[in-house]
Amino acid sequence: MKKVVLGVTGGVAAYKAAELARLLMRGGAEVHVIMTPAATEFITPLTFQALTGNPVYVNMYADRSGEKIQHIDLLENTDLVVIAPATANTMAKMASGLADNLLTTLYLAARCPVVIVPSMNVNMYEHSVVQDNIKKLAGHGCQVMDPEAGELACGVYGRGRMPDPLDIYAFTRAVLRPKDFAGVKSLVSAGPTREPLDPVRFLSNPSTGLMGYALARALTERGADVTLISGQTHLQAPAGVNKVDVTTTEEMFDAVFEHYKESRLVIKAAAVSDYRPLEVSEQKVKKSDGKSMIELARNRDILFELGKEKGDRVLVGFAAETEDIFDNARQKMDRKNLDLIVINNLKEPGAGFAVPTNRVSIIDRSGEVENLPLMDKEELAHYILDRIARML
Ligand code: CTP
Repeated sequence: MKKVVLGVTGGVAAYKAAELARLLMRGGAEVHVIMTPAATEFITPLTFQALTGNPVYVNMYADRSGEKIQHIDLLENTDLVVIAPATANTMAKMASGLADNLLTTLYLAARCPVVIVPSMNVNMYEHSVVQDNIKKLAGHGCQVMDPEAGELACGVYGRGRMPDPLDIYAFTRAVLRPKDFAGVKSLVSAGPTREPLDPVRFLSNPSTGLMGYALARALTERGADVTLISGQTHLQAPAGVNKVDVTTTEEMFDAVFEHYKESRLVIKAAAVSDYRPLEVSEQKVKKSDGKSMIELARNRDILFELGKEKGDRVLVGFAAETEDIFDNARQKMDRKNLDLIVINNLKEPGAGFAVPTNRVSIIDRSGEVENLPLMDKEELAHYILDRIARML
C-alpha cells in the first residue's frame, strides 16, 4: 500500500478514523485525509494533519492551488480510497452520483478500489433505503465492510458500530491483495487433534491453529474458496471460510475426505495425534497406587492416504522435526506424495507451536531447501501461497 486517501464523514465513530490513519501509516502508506464538513464537527482536521503530516482537505474550493483540480490531483497514484466512517448521508450521495463536496466528488473520479465502512444507529442502518444504497455501492464495485453489532453511541444495542481500526486495516490489506487464487477450491487443516482417555482427559499437543488459520485467511484474501477443517482452538474462523470443527484424528480424517474430491489444493497444517488410547473409559478413571499404563493404537495418517489419491491436486504438508530435519522432511515428502513441505524446526526460538511467529524451511519436489527468516505467521502464510501459486 503506497498511497491511501482516507475519507472521514460526520459520524460519532470519526474519532476511530484517527487510529486507522495511524495504522495505515505504520503499514507504510502515505495517507491523505479528506473530511466532509460534518466530520469536522466530531474531530478536527488538525488531528489528522498532525498524524499524517499532510494537509487535510475539507473545502472543495478554498484550498485550490496550481493548475490541477484538487480532487484529481489527490487521486494521482492512489492505491486505495477508504471511507470510514461512512454515514447514511454520504453513502446516499455516492450511490446516486451526487458530488457536492470534495469527498463525494473524489469518489466519482476514483479509479482505484474503494472501501466503505458504514457506521450509524441500528435503525438507520437497517432502513431499507440505506440497505439499498449499500447494495448499489457494492454493485458499483465498492468493497463494503459490515458494521459490528454492539453498544452504539446512542446507547442502544444493535448492528451499526464501526469495526475496530485494526480490523478495518486488515480489510483494506485484503482488498489490495492479488486475487491469484480466485475460485481455487482449497482445503486447509489446522489446530491439534485430541484423543480422549475418559470424559475429562485427552492426549493432544500444544498447537493453537495459528498457522493453519493464517493460511485459510490468506487464501480467502486471495480469492480462494476455502474449507477449514479445524481441531479445537480458540481462534475465530476468518470471514468467508467454511469451517468444519472436529476433535479426534478419525473425525479429521472423515471431514478431510468428505471435501477432498472437489479440492484443487490441500494444505495440512494440523498437528495430528498419531496415536489414540486403545480404550476410552466411559467414566472418569480413578487414580490408584503404583504405575499406570495407557495402551495406544495407531491413528491413520491422513496425509499419507490423501497422497495415494492425489491426482492433479497440489498437496502441501507440514513437518515438525527436532533432529535430522531435512532428511526426515524429505522422507515425509516422498512417503506422502507431497508437492511442498514446510518444516518447523521446533528447536528454533520463535518457531512452532503457540507463537505468532515462525521460522521454517521449505522443500519442493526438486529437493531444494529454502531457509526462511523469522516471520509473522500471516506474512509466512502469504509467502507459502506465493510458492504454491507458481504450481497451480
Ligand atoms: N499428518 C496427518 N495424519 C497423521 C499425522 C500427520 O495428516 N496421522 C500430517 C500433518 O498434518 C503434517 C504432516 O502429516 O502435514 C507431517 O506431520 P508430522 O507430525 O511432522 O509427521 P508424522 O507423519 O506424524 O511423522 P513423525 O511422527 O514420524 O514425525
